[in-house]
Amino acid sequence: MSKKRVAVLISGRGSNMAALIEAAKARDYPAEIALVVSNRPDASGLARAQEAGVTTEIVDHRTFGEDRAAFERALDARLQAHRIDLVCLAGFMRLLTPWFVTRWSGRMLNIHPALLPQFKGLHTHRRALEAGLKRHGATVHFVVPEMDSGPIVMQDSVPIVEGDTEETLAARVLEIEHRIYPQALRLVAEGRVTLDADSRR
Ligand code: GRF
Repeated sequence: MSKKRVAVLISGRGSNMAALIEAAKARDYPAEIALVVSNRPDASGLARAQEAGVTTEIVDHRTFGEDRAAFERALDARLQAHRIDLVCLAGFMRLLTPWFVTRWSGRMLNIHPALLPQFKGLHTHRRALEAGLKRHGATVHFVVPEMDSGPIVMQDSVPIVEGDTEETLAARVLEIEHRIYPQALRLVAEGRVTLDADSRR
């Protein structure tokens, strides 16, 4: 079976993107990272992708002003031009409209640094510490119109230890992210995990 063509969407340093690129080097991996797109021209992940020989594109949301639909049409056009099968959001800091999400329904994953459905949204590590929890983690899920709410493909957790700060906890969670995102993408690319039609909205 031919490898699925994957686009990774980033806004920043792209460490999850790098983990996906690394995993996809394996001969038996069912997906290739065909494209990295950033909505920010200054994202440091872009250089990382280029060093790894991956094609990069910038679709700068600021050039579209308030016109979210035009930004997403431009993004979608780049994905179509590269014949992308699957999209991985990896630290992509733009909310996507139902139009885009529906278009890529069942073909778009996100990684979130928390054990969803706990702590949707931002500052997850701070909130986990404030809640006094014993464990925290990361989740890979299908993207649906409601933010951080799609069906879960994979998640894993780490302990929260005495003296943890947002930074130490984030670093521990990031190690899990780098492990589960490639594993989750493998399952989806192989068609072993699919998004049920009833779960798409
Ligand atoms: C990760 O923690 C990811 O879960 C969150 O944003 C961060 C992105 O980090 N959505 P990186 O750009 O992959 O290094």
